[in-house]
Amino acid sequence: MPHLGKKAPGPAWWATPRVLQQLRRDPIALHRKMHDRYGDVVRISFGFSCAYMLRRPEHAGHVLRDNHTNYDKKNFDYRILKAIVGEGLLTSNGEIWRRQRRLIQPAFQRERTEALVPLMVERTEEMLARWRDAGDAARDISRDMARLALEVVTQALFGINAGESAAEIGDAFRALSRRAMDRYGVLASVLGFLPTPGNLRAKEARRRLRAVVEKLIAERRRRPPGGDLLSKLLEARDEESGRAMSEQQLRDEVTTLLLAGYETTANALSWTFYLLSEHPETARGVEAEVDRVLGGQAISVKAVPNLNLCRAVLQESMRLYPPAWVVSRSAIEEDVIGGYAIDKRALVVVGIYDTHRLPDVWPEPEKFDPGRFLNSHRGPAPFAYYPFGGGPRMCIGAGFAELETICILSTMAQKCRLRLVPDQTVQPEALITLRPRGGLRMTVEWR
Ligand code: HEM
Repeated sequence: MPHLGKKAPGPAWWATPRVLQQLRRDPIALHRKMHDRYGDVVRISFGFSCAYMLRRPEHAGHVLRDNHTNYDKKNFDYRILKAIVGEGLLTSNGEIWRRQRRLIQPAFQRERTEALVPLMVERTEEMLARWRDAGDAARDISRDMARLALEVVTQALFGINAGESAAEIGDAFRALSRRAMDRYGVLASVLGFLPTPGNLRAKEARRRLRAVVEKLIAERRRRPPGGDLLSKLLEARDEESGRAMSEQQLRDEVTTLLLAGYETTANALSWTFYLLSEHPETARGVEAEVDRVLGGQAISVKAVPNLNLCRAVLQESMRLYPPAWVVSRSAIEEDVIGGYAIDKRALVVVGIYDTHRLPDVWPEPEKFDPGRFLNSHRGPAPFAYYPFGGGPRMCIGAGFAELETICILSTMAQKCRLRLVPDQTVQPEALITLRPRGGLRMTVEWR
């Protein structure tokens, strides 16, 4: 079939090794450079195949929603993710994905999520008590948020308090996602099987992660089944064969939900506390709102709709630093986007971060302004703002994450404010998720 669209602009094929090297070093800068130089649709050639970078809301909507049946997750990015979490809801395709989504969706029903509010508050208060005991030394807030989010998600979905295992899971995921990004280096991916120090570290991290996940599953099995998701996964039977999930499938699904359920939430919170420390007038506004709405009580589901500034701050934080900063797909058949041909089996990278900073969509895009979300009745246009993706593969935990982050932010704002340790350059590090490079050192000031 002849190409229906024209060939998209992009660097010459012989520049690809350099592009990949830049992608590994600083993916956000590379995205900006490519779009600045070549426009909204950029084609990167690998000789035998190619990738497209997109950033316009309508192009994101086309790939993720309108023409989603032409795009699957059988691509290089998801192969990397599969090496960490296996074949779970996030990485699977077709019938396997549909079956797992049907099975898991009920665990995220609104009432079930809302019932978790007291638990979210309790875990946050436990963290604050640990902070008090630790005295006033500076803390790495991104590590604390990772532990908190992991504790919430393991308790909420699996009925287990991960406690100390949370830190171990966090460390293992961190090591694996750093290693995963190395795979973008051509040489590293060719030499991936050699016993280099990096590969051995990754192997060890994978072993540790598997051991913790197996421990969580064993712990759940020892207790009587409950209404939690892990019990449901253990009970689930295939409609046709009547067989239970294999141990491997179960492990993969649990690992997927752990990773997807904490990393992004933890980063959203870390960025929010960073932005609030840089904008003390907004931080005071948040404190005034929680004092007025909650009146010294713990947050309840009823109070959530009244915490408008808290919600707007979290939304604006995820506009500037979307924790899942890109989503990618593979084109099943040829397509046309913005008048440009998209080759069959090409990698298609939708830049959430890039869309969220388009000046014609978000005026003064670099400015932190929660007012953008406070004053708009209709909300942003479709795919102008999509931190949770969109279409059928939109984040299953979006409602859960929104509720969790507002619970944690408001509980913390009632008790303390966080100050950035000076002389620290805070920069985003775009691995699989967008996180503060080297952590986020902050001190706690009690209110
Ligand atoms: C601020 C927090 C979060 C952000 C920004 C976020 C973002 C995203 C995005 C952008 C996707 C779509 C990926 C794609 O289309 O390729 C996604 C999918 C997913 N997310 Fe989240 N997520 C968050 C929290 C959570 C939580 C709390 C859970 C579970 C407890 C979760 C579980 C998942 C799963 C399982 C998928 C795959 C869904 C599917 O393909 O059917 N996420 N997330």
